[in-house]
Amino acid sequence: MMTVKGKTIVVTGAGGGMGKATVELLLKNGANVVGCDLNTDSLEPFAGQKNFMAYKGNFLDEDTVKRAFKTVSEKFGSIDGLANIAGIAQSNTPIEKVSLQEFHKIMDINLTMTFLTCREAALYMKGNKTGKIVNVGSVSATRPRPGLQAYVASKGAVESFTKAMALELAPFHINVNILHPGPADTTMLGKFTAAEAEIEDTKKEIFEKSVPLGRLIQPDDIANSIKFLLSEEANMITGTILHVDGGRNI
Ligand SMILES: NC(=O)c1ccc[n+]([C@@H]2O[C@H](COP(=O)([O-])OP(=O)(O)OC[C@H]3O[C@@H](n4cnc5c(N)ncnc54)[C@H](O)[C@@H]3O)[C@@H](O)[C@H]2O)c1
Repeated sequence: MMTVKGKTIVVTGAGGGMGKATVELLLKNGANVVGCDLNTDSLEPFAGQKNFMAYKGNFLDEDTVKRAFKTVSEKFGSIDGLANIAGIAQSNTPIEKVSLQEFHKIMDINLTMTFLTCREAALYMKGNKTGKIVNVGSVSATRPRPGLQAYVASKGAVESFTKAMALELAPFHINVNILHPGPADTTMLGKFTAAEAEIEDTKKEIFEKSVPLGRLIQPDDIANSIKFLLSEEANMITGTILHVDGGRNI
């Protein structure tokens, strides 16, 4: 059995499609879970559970990240896992129309936020000489699509950052891995669509057709693999890329 029982796990992007599914699965398996997001409304169903805490805030803000981890450590006594699921899409746009502001925003949310939360997690995990970090990238880092340059670059950077962290933190028995989802059935998928395109047509004609296994990835597919990477069964896995994409990366 893949066990996360009794582990305290911080999940960013917890209010989104993959995040909520991950929170639910980790709770079901006996973990203490802290669900972090700009908007935690969707986490309301878990509010009464003793082993759950919602943390609403902008995790791009350095002080918010520091405060959140301190609160978690004080409440649950340790921080054993971090699942960095928060992210932002890019509307399909030709490079000459991408503003510098938009580029910075995507890099900040997808990359800088990952740096901030990993830095804070390392601080707590190094002291305990154990920990597991899972960063969520995207299959587009290895199979880019035209019009998503900033997004693809941000996720490629998260992949390199993950490998660097895996090596640096290995002496402290902290595993750091990246999970690359393929096109997934969440509200984010529609946000990759070009401004003038039909969301449902793009989902079917472009995204679903690109998956060899023939369907969009579901939030539960991602949650299952995140749980595995956070569990003791993944103790000897670090610095690796787990594609959860129905074969899209081939
Ligand atoms: N949906 C897809 O097709 C797809 C494909 C590949 C990779 N991904 C990646 O998977 C991850 C999850 O995607 P999803 O589909 O669940 O998206 P989603 O939009 O449903 O969830 C993302 C969550 O991140 C939160 N967030 C954004 N900025 C934040 C901030 N500054 N502070 C705190 N929270 C913040 C949002 O509020 C949202 O709830 C993302 O990193 C995304 O890039 C998604």
